[in-house]
Amino acid sequence: MHNTIQISEGLYYVGGSDRTLSRFENLYPVPRGMAYNSYLLLDEKTVLFDTVDETVADLFLENIAHVLGGRTLDYLVVHHMEPDHSATILRLLQSYPTVTVVASAKALQMMENFFPFTNERTLAVKEGDVLKTGEHTLSFIGAPMVHWPEVLFSFDEKTGTLFSADAFGTFGALDGHIFADETQYGCDFSEARRYYFNIVGKYGVQVRNVLKKAAALPIETVCPLHGPIWRKNFGTFLKLYDVWSKYEPEERGAVLFYGSIHGHTAEAAQLLASAIAEHGARVEVLDVSAVDLSELVAEAFRFSHPVFLSATYNLGIFLPMEQLLSDLGAHLYQNRKYAVVENGSWSPQAGSLIENIVSGWKNMERIGERVTILSSVKEAQTEALRKLGERIAEDIRSES
Ligand SMILES: Cc1cc2nc3c(=O)[nH]c(=O)nc-3n(C[C@H](O)[C@H](O)[C@H](O)COP(=O)(O)O)c2cc1C
Ligand SMILES: [Fe+2]
Ligand SMILES: [Fe+2]
Repeated sequence: MHNTIQISEGLYYVGGSDRTLSRFENLYPVPRGMAYNSYLLLDEKTVLFDTVDETVADLFLENIAHVLGGRTLDYLVVHHMEPDHSATILRLLQSYPTVTVVASAKALQMMENFFPFTNERTLAVKEGDVLKTGEHTLSFIGAPMVHWPEVLFSFDEKTGTLFSADAFGTFGALDGHIFADETQYGCDFSEARRYYFNIVGKYGVQVRNVLKKAAALPIETVCPLHGPIWRKNFGTFLKLYDVWSKYEPEERGAVLFYGSIHGHTAEAAQLLASAIAEHGARVEVLDVSAVDLSELVAEAFRFSHPVFLSATYNLGIFLPMEQLLSDLGAHLYQNRKYAVVENGSWSPQAGSLIENIVSGWKNMERIGERVTILSSVKEAQTEALRKLGERIAEDIRSES
């Protein structure tokens, strides 16, 4: 079977979507599957941009044979060596033994570490290098640590097409449409946000470096390695990348993360949320035991005012909350105003432990006093939570 789609004159989509995968990278749930994009350009020379994950390899190889229609494959450009895009290189080389692999020197070295062979036909390229394929000229742009060290973008000068590796990718299979402007994607970036913050987000500085270089290019179309292709309204996505890579909140609002064993801390979260909403600010409540960690991380980055409410657990922080804090720290979470609520039946400790962790992050300012609950919310804590909610709401509204 083959399933290819023409993108523009001479350029074809030859990738595929996997809907059987439960967790991307064996970690992030992908209930709507995952797309592994690959693109084939027919010019005087034929050029394939990246391979795909093993799960869609058969379809991919049939797609290439179909589009080539008997021609040979001249170049394989490898933008990124992570196996979701490189796993099929060996099979591709077996099918097209005369293909020249075009990649950064680092990627070529990584290739030898991944595969039990040394490929003789290689062309090492770096930023500023160009490859003429006939009517098209490809130029290469270094994108180190977006999100691996060897990453390159390439740019087709004739059509203004940017091949952006994992940047501007998203979780989710392609639903027949391959262009972002044919779908609702672009109204709701929740899966793109979750993808960005969990996979690329730690490397905000490196993302900004490559955004600067991209700004100088006359981009018409962006072809990422996951998710839809952008040919219209790319500015919307670019603006989000600008905000995200600066670690700035995307929306002014509170996000309440609660970790509760028997439900009392959950009640406190609900009460606090009501107070914030009552005072006119946006608020969202998330149970750290129920919502996937990747979603918690994405929502933390989305909002300006996180609140951490946790039960004390063996003189520590309730485990899913501890895990969230550890993941946020690892992703360089910063630039937020935060509040803390703790609960304990004999020796509440969670609050000070949370504050210790958060105080190690950059530009985090605590708002209001820590609220301590002894087992259940009484009148005094109801009052304290209402006050805290009002304070948070005022702060959110003050800068909006
Ligand atoms: C395994 C376990 C360990 C706990 N360790 C502590 C503790 O070290 N200090 C404390 O004050 N409470 C501890 N607690 C009690 C809870 O923190 C306390 O009952 C709290 O009110 C639970 O809030 P919740 O109703 O939101 O679950 C522990 C509870 C459990 C189940
Ligand atoms: Fe990757
Ligand atoms: Fe990827």
